[in-house]
Amino acid sequence: MIFSNKKISYFGLDISDLSFKLAAVINKKNIFELVNYNKANVPPGYFENGKIIKLQESSNLIKELVNSAYGPKIKTKFVHACLPEKQTFIKIIYLPHVSETEIPSAIDWAAEHHLPFSLDEIYFDYHILENKKNDKEIPVVIGAAPKEIVDDYTKMIKLAGFVPLSLEIEALAIARAIYPKEKMLEQAQAIVDLGANRSSLIICAQDAVQFSLSLPISGNKITQVISQTLKISPRQAEAAKIICGLDEKKCKGGIKIILEKELDNLANEINTGLKYYQENIAKSTTIEKLLLTGGGANMIQLNKILSEKVGLPTEVADISTNIKISKNLNLPTEQLLSLTTAIGLAIK
Ligand SMILES: Nc1ncnc2c1ncn2[C@@H]1O[C@H](COP(=O)(O)OP(=O)(O)OP(=O)(O)O)[C@@H](O)[C@H]1O
Ligand SMILES: [Mg+2]
Repeated sequence: MIFSNKKISYFGLDISDLSFKLAAVINKKNIFELVNYNKANVPPGYFENGKIIKLQESSNLIKELVNSAYGPKIKTKFVHACLPEKQTFIKIIYLPHVSETEIPSAIDWAAEHHLPFSLDEIYFDYHILENKKNDKEIPVVIGAAPKEIVDDYTKMIKLAGFVPLSLEIEALAIARAIYPKEKMLEQAQAIVDLGANRSSLIICAQDAVQFSLSLPISGNKITQVISQTLKISPRQAEAAKIICGLDEKKCKGGIKIILEKELDNLANEINTGLKYYQENIAKSTTIEKLLLTGGGANMIQLNKILSEKVGLPTEVADISTNIKISKNLNLPTEQLLSLTTAIGLAIK
């Protein structure tokens, strides 16, 4: 058992350019209970495209995030954190059927050929997917991140006084938060994570993340388009986005009309990603549905509009699949979607 005496053993830390988020759970009879959470806005200039610019200031912010977290005082030093999505890479590749002892060298060879980096500049890890002896090829998921990024994130966490147990590719944490533990996905599913600064498409099958792709939309971009079109302040535009969403009955359907081009772009990019996966990675696999997560998934009727535009059943992900929220935490439900990554790290 990972947890004992109802104390947290570690916390999850979602690090992104504009925000840090924390989640921690205790394990009560195999049910995770969320007992701590927090969010801190990262001032502009601390990070750029996932790279740390202000190391000391960023590590101070981690300390503050932990010290001011909602819930009981956090005493553990251990943390599972994530790496910036834009700087990491995840892909399924197929190896020829080699003997077990030859797999590591076959993976080195494949990584050299399939990853867009030189092997001495990256750390990479792999996971062999279920395959039958008579299959011609062995499917392997490879994840990679630049050494410079991993080493800098490690330095920042240590400088804050914590011990990083792992630095994980964000898509893996998101999938862990969303899907029930130990229940194999029967068909492939896609997740769209809509953040403030960036968004991504993640495709999961056989209990593994098989592919991820950055998408050309973000919550901030949507707010900016509303602000510029209606000539209102970003604060008013954010309020209009949250209150009206894409509901045609609210604000005379104005926000939906303003965002038509962004939504078409988003749907096109999702479809391009799904098609690429189906044609080049897992040939002719059917994608069963699309799940939305991240704060942007709270947008009223976004699931309905994307379902129409992408042509797949689309639902808002249920983050309470693996956790229940402690009664002592007054966590507004709409904030749960923003905590997806941190929760996925906390239940590792
Ligand atoms: N009800 C809502 N309708 C529309 N957008 C919303 C709603 N609630 C939150 N958002 C948007 O969600 C975004 C924040 O999402 P999230 O917390 O997942 O981002 P983040 O993880 O901090 O950013 P990133 O992952 O891009 O670094 C903001 O752009 C916010 O405007
Ligand atoms: Mg995020």
